[in-house]
Amino acid sequence: MNIAIINGPNLNLLGTREPEVYGQVSFEVFLDELKQRFPNVVLSYFQSNEEGQLVSKIQELGTSGCMGIVINAAAYSHTSVALADALKAVEIPAVEVHISNIFSREAFRHHSYLSPVCKGVIAGLGLESYSLALQYLLRGK
Ligand code: DQA
Repeated sequence: MNIAIINGPNLNLLGTREPEVYGQVSFEVFLDELKQRFPNVVLSYFQSNEEGQLVSKIQELGTSGCMGIVINAAAYSHTSVALADALKAVEIPAVEVHISNIFSREAFRHHSYLSPVCKGVIAGLGLESYSLALQYLLRGK
């Protein structure tokens, strides 16, 4: 089963960026751990700081046989109609994740354009948010 993880802007800095909010582990280290925990899943990973590149990647996934998307669009969650439209267009089940609890932070983080087009949202459980999203996408498979 092919699952894609997509990370948006500044998530390339995980491990050093505001460690009190986002933790001290880089995404590359966590991804290796995730691959070991889910050996039967073909996990692809894409990170970009650019909105258009994220849109293009989602479109590409639409014709790649990808069966699920775990997406942390980071700040673009709160601003991007284009990413929401792309997710809607490809019709791949997607789960929105956030490392921090966006609802306990500034008001501008409380709204996400992606939530209505995703199966669900997991927020505030650190990097474990990604593995819980993965478990959901793999259910019954
Ligand atoms: C984030 C929350 C966003 O509000 C923020 O802009 C991020 C990361 C999270 O994973 O907690 O960059 O998506």
